[in-house]
Amino acid sequence: MEEQIQKYLSEIEAFTATSAAELESFRIQFLGKKGVMNALFASFKDVAPENRKATGQALNGLKTAVENKLEEQRLQVELASNADGPSDDLTKTPVPSPLGSRHPISTTIDEVIGIFQRIGFVLSEGPEIEDDWHNFTALNLPEDHPARDMQDTFFININPDHMLRTHTSSVQVRYMEGHQPPIRIISPGRVFRNEAISARSHCMFHQVEGLYIDRKVSFADMVQTLRHFAREMFGTDAKIRLRPSYFPFTEPSAEMDVYWGLKTEADYRMTKGTGWLEVLGCGMVDPRVLENCGIDPEIYSGFAFGIGIERTAMRQYQIPDIRLFTENDLRFLQNFQSVG
Ligand code: DAH
Repeated sequence: MEEQIQKYLSEIEAFTATSAAELESFRIQFLGKKGVMNALFASFKDVAPENRKATGQALNGLKTAVENKLEEQRLQVELASNADGPSDDLTKTPVPSPLGSRHPISTTIDEVIGIFQRIGFVLSEGPEIEDDWHNFTALNLPEDHPARDMQDTFFININPDHMLRTHTSSVQVRYMEGHQPPIRIISPGRVFRNEAISARSHCMFHQVEGLYIDRKVSFADMVQTLRHFAREMFGTDAKIRLRPSYFPFTEPSAEMDVYWGLKTEADYRMTKGTGWLEVLGCGMVDPRVLENCGIDPEIYSGFAFGIGIERTAMRQYQIPDIRLFTENDLRFLQNFQSVG
């Protein structure tokens, strides 16, 4: 059946209609009562159980390909019929412009924000061009701190104190400087690092930062909040784990991984052979950072986290290459037409 599906796929790919009648016979050929799709679905019961999942997906893919083709060609035929100037028939439906769709990164950011807003976090944003104090020094990364190397930075030529922010943690600093606890913020944004581009990493990506400061906030509060996020985002059956880690602005620090799978070559590449994908860094805000921002660490404590949005979206939609997000390839983007 797989072979048949492939054959139909190439047939669909090659199809172009020059008239409405041609388009209609294409529709009947595939979607009619006695058409290809019904015949294929009818013989699905004969597929061996171990192949059902893959064949089912291929069948659904075929159906989507037919539907997309129909829509695309319908517009073409309509455009062609209107090409000889405006019609006198004012009751005629105008040519609809094809609808775009939301980018999966925007959809994922909104989803993350929604999860945290529902538990009381408010939105706060900061600039993409930052100064040294907000991006590094206030976050306990003084000049010459070796951990600055963890985040290869794009500096701005005309002012060496300015850079493209390497993380959204800078927004924490800005917010704490202007507000006293209780603080519960969520800060989405674009970040930049001077890194080689590969399937796993890019020089421009997105994070959502979170910060919770109040009296008596504990590590347990953080774990519970992040577990809630993971359940809402990835579903109750998703496996997650917290690993000890290091960030200069948190103590203790951790990273959260979500299980991705380890079957294909892409799985090995994405997860460095572990099956787990790191999606966020987190920890209890270092008292030095609170102090730097004018908050008394004797009274207040809190946690912070930075979620990698591309990673989250890759896990959500099973996308094995981060570069796809920014290539603007319509064949990729059209997969998200019904999302959001
Ligand atoms: N800023 C870190 C990064 O970009 C992520 C992070 C880790 C953010 C720990 C935090 C945190 O707020 O507490 O890799």
